[in-house]
Amino acid sequence: MALLQIRRYPDPVLAKSAAPIAEIDDEVRTLVDNMVETMYAAPGVGLAGPQVAVLRRVVVIDCGGEEDPQLIVAINPEILDRDGESYEEEGCLSVPEYYAKVKRSSWVRVRYQNIDGQVIEMETGGLLAVCFQHEIDHLEGKLFVDRLSSLKKGIFRKKYIKILEQQQEQL
Ligand code: NI
Repeated sequence: MALLQIRRYPDPVLAKSAAPIAEIDDEVRTLVDNMVETMYAAPGVGLAGPQVAVLRRVVVIDCGGEEDPQLIVAINPEILDRDGESYEEEGCLSVPEYYAKVKRSSWVRVRYQNIDGQVIEMETGGLLAVCFQHEIDHLEGKLFVDRLSSLKKGIFRKKYIKILEQQQEQL
């Protein structure tokens, strides 16, 4: 297994949409192993293909926390149905040190293939529902900051430039 480099905004690969995975072969299995390791090492609660510059429809999620890990590997995930409203704070490994509340659905029904190729349908709410929406957005080239109001986007850009500058100074 290997740690992958996590791409950061404004890397253009994060704005591209990812292609479906036709066959879950050794290459996909290795990619998934590396994505899982990279997510836990970061640490983060989710990671999508484009974040490691792989434009394929795969996400890994673990919203369970250290005490109760609940790893989900979702290949070709899609949202079949959604309901309700949620407005929770989000962050992203590709947008370091910036957090903001984002409007989402509070409940989703999702379908995906697991690593064995089995089709899974799941209904979920709470943090996991937010995670699925956030990660599936990545597959469409969309980041959580793209969902902010234009006013908040302006604030984000100013703050984020400073965050990047500070990180440059630390290098
Ligand atoms: Ni993210």
